[in-house]
Amino acid sequence: GLSRGGAGMEAAAAPSRDARGRAASHPRGRGEKSPRKVYMDYNATTPLEPEVIQAMTEAMREAWGNPSSPYPDIIDTARENIAKMIGGRPQDIIFTSGGTESNNLVIHSAVKHFHQTRPSKGSPAELSSPLDGAAPHLVTCTVEHDSIRLPLEHLVQEQVAAVTFVPVSKVNGQVEVEDILAAVRPATCLVTIMLANNETGVIMPISDISQRIKALNQKRAASRLPVILLHTDAAQALGKRRVDVEDLGVDFLTIVGHKFYGPRIGALYVRGLGELTPLYPMLFGGGQERNFRPGTENTPMIAGLGKAAELVTRNCEAYEAHMRDVRDYLEERLAAEFDKQRIHLNSQFPGTERLPNTCNFSIRGPQLQGRAVLAQCRTLLASVGAACHSDHVDRPSPVLLSCGIPFDVARNALRLSVGRSTTRAEVDLVVQDLKQAVARLEGQA
Ligand SMILES: Cc1ncc(COP(=O)(O)O)c(C=O)c1O
Ligand SMILES: *[C@@H]1O[C@H](CO)[C@@H](O)[C@H](O)[C@H]1NC(C)=O
Repeated sequence: GLSRGGAGMEAAAAPSRDARGRAASHPRGRGEKSPRKVYMDYNATTPLEPEVIQAMTEAMREAWGNPSSPYPDIIDTARENIAKMIGGRPQDIIFTSGGTESNNLVIHSAVKHFHQTRPSKGSPAELSSPLDGAAPHLVTCTVEHDSIRLPLEHLVQEQVAAVTFVPVSKVNGQVEVEDILAAVRPATCLVTIMLANNETGVIMPISDISQRIKALNQKRAASRLPVILLHTDAAQALGKRRVDVEDLGVDFLTIVGHKFYGPRIGALYVRGLGELTPLYPMLFGGGQERNFRPGTENTPMIAGLGKAAELVTRNCEAYEAHMRDVRDYLEERLAAEFDKQRIHLNSQFPGTERLPNTCNFSIRGPQLQGRAVLAQCRTLLASVGAACHSDHVDRPSPVLLSCGIPFDVARNALRLSVGRSTTRAEVDLVVQDLKQAVARLEGQA
């Protein structure tokens, strides 16, 4: 049956509600025999905040008409709230279908702009150009999300552009500013580096990169070289730490709703859209979003994204403090419950900032591959990420390996990421679950 046990059991097993009584999102055990689940994969996706659902529901009921009536209000308010969340101007925000589209749009735009601003082939100006017919060049790092890596690899395959994938430091998991600068060529038109990595939580030094690129751009202008635009994918950082486009000094910033308790759409910030920073649309249609991203606006989702942004602006410090407390408690409990030598924390690099909610660790042991441990877990829902796509080879994450983590440790990696309503009680359940899983794998239970 669907009985979930008595009230006492429900309480003991109900970290699914936080202090404010909100229902949490994680799937629950259905039958009497299946234990309750604890979701610790908030870097993959988050639930919707009730206020977000409410805003979306209202918009679905009320704002179905043409963009003349209550529509623009809803869209404008959302745009303002998203701008406020990142310290930008509302007119610099474009709504998209999500992070994948935002990232692709930036890459497309940079390449297009390179060609639009080069002298035409065979013209006298072209013959004297310092670029000498070079293809556009883009710089990124080796630990980017697939929605950056794959479009760039595609451009290389199609011989449309050249790309440098800069490895991250083995010492701290960050991309080094000097390495980015060293990768720059005369034909470089875009540097794209994520703000926070989804697997390690490591924060990349975006403001340092932007300062160096700004200085470089002044010199390049004097020698008629293309300007280098700077993009950061902030998918993993928003709602977990303060994000400010002025501090970061970026030209483009990617926003992804479902990573901060919003709906599955996104937005793109473009500094001085159309004036300071070029944006070339990928789609052509009915003129919405000032032609930069046409198509009838998805008003309910936009209303939800705006509400989610408003909550982040209002509560980010509290979210961050709570997640850090629970994550640090998790790391403390892991060290206490397992022999300390057995636990390897893969993303604690001294002196390097990381997300407050992410814990990437390995339990050392020949039978303890990440996927094997998770498969034995009865409570924990988490991710072994890139380590195991669909193939059944225990191939460790390229992200981890490129961070300099030893092969056996990389193969055993698990990533737990906590959320706004994760409790210390849930952490206790998860650590016990992991202990039992390890014992079973090692044949003691
Ligand atoms: C760093 C990063 N960028 C971009 C995305 C892509 O977002 P989406 O799949 O919603 O388009 C994700 C989420 O999967 C991500 O973690
Ligand atoms: C993080 O992003 C990478 C690149 O897109 C992806 O392959 C990987 O599965 C993600 N990791 C996790 C743990 O979700």
